[in-house]
Amino acid sequence: SICHLFPQSMELPPRPTLFDFHGVSMTKYFTDNWENIQSFKARPDDILIATYPKAGTTWVSYILDLLYFGEPDCRSSVPLQERVPFLEISEPSRPKGKDLADQLPTAPRLIKTHLPVQFVPKSFWEQRSRIVYVARNAKDSAVSYFHFGHMNRVLPEPGDWSCFLQNFMQGKVVFGSWYEHVNTWWDQKQTYSNLHYMFYEDLIEDSGQEISRLCSFLGLSPTAEQRELVQAKVTFDNMKQNKITNFSTVSMMNQSVSPFMRKGRVGDWKNHFTVSQNEQFEEDYKNKMKNTALVFRNEI
Ligand code: PPS
Repeated sequence: SICHLFPQSMELPPRPTLFDFHGVSMTKYFTDNWENIQSFKARPDDILIATYPKAGTTWVSYILDLLYFGEPDCRSSVPLQERVPFLEISEPSRPKGKDLADQLPTAPRLIKTHLPVQFVPKSFWEQRSRIVYVARNAKDSAVSYFHFGHMNRVLPEPGDWSCFLQNFMQGKVVFGSWYEHVNTWWDQKQTYSNLHYMFYEDLIEDSGQEISRLCSFLGLSPTAEQRELVQAKVTFDNMKQNKITNFSTVSMMNQSVSPFMRKGRVGDWKNHFTVSQNEQFEEDYKNKMKNTALVFRNEI
């Protein structure tokens, strides 16, 4: 309940403000630990899970965690945000992501980031660590991010939907422009071969096939039984019920406003965009995406 999550509800910290950080909109909760993050020492066997927010980070994190480590008793009560630390988070109610990553006892270490490609600590490139980038169509990403902004005090107030949508289109949201994020990561893939670029919509359509592709990228060959176990554990319904994956232990998130595991579908944008918002969005999208071969699916 809210009372349980926020025992001192009168003393909640104020929402952070957005500011321009080397050309990208950010808040202090992702820039305060900057020097330490930039000097992070990656290892060749580290696996970085990189996404624009709300693209399916948690889903892919749990898939990789289960593929590598299964869920032995000693790990079964460790929440996913500790198994797969969020590198750049530096927020007083939680341990710093960089410190959790440094202390990870596992090999490989699975690490989550939302950083635009130009902000990734250089050690990951030098060590040639493998990177899994997950992308999700812009409209569903915007909708998911809007609801997340309402429930997560780490983010600025999203305002109403039409206001948030304008900000999203202008890149005035935390981690900046969706368009630049997906495109610059896509460009990176052309020269950095240890990058696997995948799509949320493909996972929804055929999670088995996407898990196979992940396995071949990572050089894993799970047994049929292991694969079935992983697939069963990572369904939306199971992850929504599972306190390891549903973020119910994170105090800055108010799940009664909107659950972290909210809908888990392709096309929920249709319940949010008006006809004119959609027209304006499409027009702007064509312009911003005109130089890329990247194709997203807004419905399946
Ligand atoms: S975060 O906060 O940026 O790390 O969020 P992220 O995990 O990237 O994205 C959250 C959205 O992913 C949906 N999700 C899933 N969909 C389908 N199946 C599974 N197993 C699953 N796990 C997470 C989650 O519901 C959020 O999307 P929306 O559209 O808001 O429901």
